[in-house]
Amino acid sequence: MDRSSHRARRQRVLESLGDSSVMVVPAARVFPRNSDVEHPYRQDSDFYYLTAFEEPECVALLTNAHPEHKFVLFCRKRDRDREIWDGYRAGVEGAVSVYGADAAYPIEELDQRLPDYLENVDHVHHRLGKDRAFDDRVLRAIDAVRSRFRRGVSAPGSIVDSTTLLHGMRFLKDDSELALMRGAAAISHDAHVAAMKLTAPGRYEYEIDAELVRVFRSRGSERPAYESICGSGPNATILHYRAGNRQMADGELLLVDAGCELGSYASDVTRTYPVNGVFSEAQRALYEITLDAQLAAIEATKPGTTLDAIHDVTVKVLVAGMIRVGLLEGSVDDRIADESFRRFYMHRTSHWLGMDVHDVGGHYVNRKIRTLEPRCVLTVEPGIYVGLDAEVDPKWRGIGIRIEDDLLVTETGSENLTAAIPKTVSDIEAVMRR
Ligand code: GLY
Ligand code: MN
Ligand code: MN
Repeated sequence: MDRSSHRARRQRVLESLGDSSVMVVPAARVFPRNSDVEHPYRQDSDFYYLTAFEEPECVALLTNAHPEHKFVLFCRKRDRDREIWDGYRAGVEGAVSVYGADAAYPIEELDQRLPDYLENVDHVHHRLGKDRAFDDRVLRAIDAVRSRFRRGVSAPGSIVDSTTLLHGMRFLKDDSELALMRGAAAISHDAHVAAMKLTAPGRYEYEIDAELVRVFRSRGSERPAYESICGSGPNATILHYRAGNRQMADGELLLVDAGCELGSYASDVTRTYPVNGVFSEAQRALYEITLDAQLAAIEATKPGTTLDAIHDVTVKVLVAGMIRVGLLEGSVDDRIADESFRRFYMHRTSHWLGMDVHDVGGHYVNRKIRTLEPRCVLTVEPGIYVGLDAEVDPKWRGIGIRIEDDLLVTETGSENLTAAIPKTVSDIEAVMRR
């Protein structure tokens, strides 16, 4: 693995930290499921972003306040017995020789050694509130430094939210991150095409879910970036439906929102397939409106604009289409003003994408709305969802459609990382005919 980008990121953090700060970043916790069984472990994104280290029970420190130790790792010791059960550990030796730490200690020594690193330091950069047990350890360390006042030692006076710096960095992707995001998009392409080919009346939602995972894992993806959504028939109108045990029937739609993770980077893709391979007239009418809205959203994606502006463009096209086919009545402006379109389109159009599927970056920076910049990545994902109980012409009821792509913002506009995944009515029908 190329760890040079992680080193470059630590360097950038150190340049921003100044002379009298320590940044503390813990690894993700292990969540027990029951005796001897744990939930699958996924490293904390901030921790991995800086270290490339995938083991649990670690803490990274970054500081300019120590003459030699700019990057310190606390991690699990080598342990022959435990490694027979749980697998290889890098140990403190590997933390230095492989992961580039200037110093490394067993995690058991954190409480004893952390105060030494905080002596005469003004600021601790730490994300308070994410892990209360770890907050306590940081606060106890600060307290321990305070008790050294008789020796003339000063304790940190402020705790700064580390995510202001880290998430600002993570918002814009470097070349190595973009390579992984392109790789994730390519695998998700293959998974959606395979899922389209498998979809047919009589198949079950869980079969499609299994097919997606099969392609993800067989192409080297470590896991889905989120639990795949495979909603058939009326389940397509449930936004965060999982894949259940419903059998798909002739004439229905299947909404598949599934993207893999590669090297800890997500893809997030939705396509809506006709179960029998051909869209009905009503399905096609709503599909074309959703696609028009999505293409308008893509067109509007460029540096300087905002997620709100992209959403507004999308809503305009959706509402005009809903009025054209009779789902709504009146004028576009009136229906946008009274928000009655939200009966059929109740979520936002975009979110940031990166190591986390709903990635960091926030909506506002310093109380000003965040604007798109080259190298940020976002989704555009309009949909139309008509519940079974909607008071509309019955032909629309139970139709759920979403179309979602991942866009990299460029100097002049955007590049659609998931453009190759079949999306038009004729492209999807062609794949499903084969
Ligand atoms: N897959 C979750 C989302 O589209 O936001
Ligand atoms: Mn999404
Ligand atoms: Mn999605």
